[in-house]
Amino acid sequence: MHVLSFIIHSLITIIPAASAFSLPFKHTRDSSCVNSASNRACWTDGFDISTNYYEKVPDTGVVREYWFNVENTTAAPDGVEMPVQLINGSFPGPTIIADWGDTVVIHVTNSLQNNGTGLHFHGIRQNFTNQMDGVPSITQCPIAPGESYTYRWRAAWDGVFGGIIINGPATANYDIDLGHVFLNDWYHQTADQLVLEAATGGPPTAPNGLINGTNTWGDKGTFVSMIDDHNLEVIANDFVPIHPFNTTQLSIGMGQRYDVIVTAKELTSENFWLRAIPQEACSETDLTSKVKGIIRYDNSSTVDPTTSAYEYTDFCADEESFDLIPYLQVNASDTYAYGEKEEVEVQVTDNAMLWLMNKTSFDTQWEYPTLMQVADNNQTWLARQRVIHLPEANRWVYFVIHSPFAQDHPMHLHGHDFWVLDSGYGNFDLSMKCELTLVNAPRRDVLMLPASGYVVIAMKTVNPGAWLMHCHIAWHTSEGFAIQLLERESEIRLNDEVLNSTCKGWQNYAVEDDVVQHDSGV
Ligand code: CU
Ligand code: CU
Repeated sequence: MHVLSFIIHSLITIIPAASAFSLPFKHTRDSSCVNSASNRACWTDGFDISTNYYEKVPDTGVVREYWFNVENTTAAPDGVEMPVQLINGSFPGPTIIADWGDTVVIHVTNSLQNNGTGLHFHGIRQNFTNQMDGVPSITQCPIAPGESYTYRWRAAWDGVFGGIIINGPATANYDIDLGHVFLNDWYHQTADQLVLEAATGGPPTAPNGLINGTNTWGDKGTFVSMIDDHNLEVIANDFVPIHPFNTTQLSIGMGQRYDVIVTAKELTSENFWLRAIPQEACSETDLTSKVKGIIRYDNSSTVDPTTSAYEYTDFCADEESFDLIPYLQVNASDTYAYGEKEEVEVQVTDNAMLWLMNKTSFDTQWEYPTLMQVADNNQTWLARQRVIHLPEANRWVYFVIHSPFAQDHPMHLHGHDFWVLDSGYGNFDLSMKCELTLVNAPRRDVLMLPASGYVVIAMKTVNPGAWLMHCHIAWHTSEGFAIQLLERESEIRLNDEVLNSTCKGWQNYAVEDDVVQHDSGV
């Protein structure tokens, strides 16, 4: 008997995202290479799981077009009514589905009553399309209420993130794509209220967590995720296909994504808990054991599962680096053209708390994004913009980030995968270079900076743009825990008309409504 297996894309996101059951599109294939349940490594003519996807992307000529209307209303995902932002009336919002090599076009209309917005496509590298990264005050002005913005980018690798599935080859076979399992912290306050609370009183405690946007009446950071009595075969981290490894539990940090294959059991009336357990070591949460979903094989069953959780260790760190070996081997260089150590500090003032990297708390101007300054060729960069200039192409860049505080931080870089050369507790200096993993180190775009510890990451200047590197905990970013890389400034491709019209719309709105900027808006 053929045992059915299914893939789920497990992630923590703060972007509204979808839970729809989705099946892959039909692909144009040559006869020798058919992507099917029994051969997921295959793709289309000349492209498969071994393709160096940093250098080569298929061009399908297919355009996938979506219209997103962002609006605010109230909803009660866990039974407690509160203000929420919806896309096309739903939470999570609609899923964007594309094949590797398709062009994705998303028209975003801001129908929020009194809020600017932008849509960041988390995990999409935006190769040579920096202006489509959707980061207000970096790559664009906020979209003013009543205005629209069109994002256009190439679906440049398989994988998924908050509401996007891009079909492509995989490192292990599976039968069915079940779409996403989204794990969220959920708060009974709005993001603005939370930022305020965080600024004055420390990190807010999440009263709840959500699976696929819903839960009954669970902080931040990391979940351990598992399905009772089921093995998890992990085949990708943050879109990077890895050599599969098996586990019963997966530690997922905020902003991280994993693709997981689960082998289904034979038809049974038994039901199983799917658990997302907030890690207490790195979070404050009220109801650790109550963020759950149910896996049923028999639809007629209505009873709750009686299964029990696998034993797990409560810790915040990422999965072991020896488990996260990329399928496509790319070695890092042992020399770097640019290397910097970023010291994390905290500053508490009378009524606010600030995070600093190298003595500076990040801030920008909503109405004058980095790309506008690039377009103006205005070289007067302010200290608080925290710009790191990387003018040369194809150079290796090293960052050491060190934090002395007893809290983990999920560090995210836009526009790139980075190589995780080392991470650990204590401190690190670039003079200790001999201890780094250079041969096929894990690659991803979010990693956990350990409490009282450090990470060493490397990247290559292959993608011109203004790219944010920040802590993925929203209020830490808001409180200045970010820097930006200005990579190959002279080669950044800009559509001045889009840039200017969005900023004009925003400036008009800001003047009319007396908008007061309270943070960087990123
Ligand atoms: Cu992102
Ligand atoms: Cu943080």
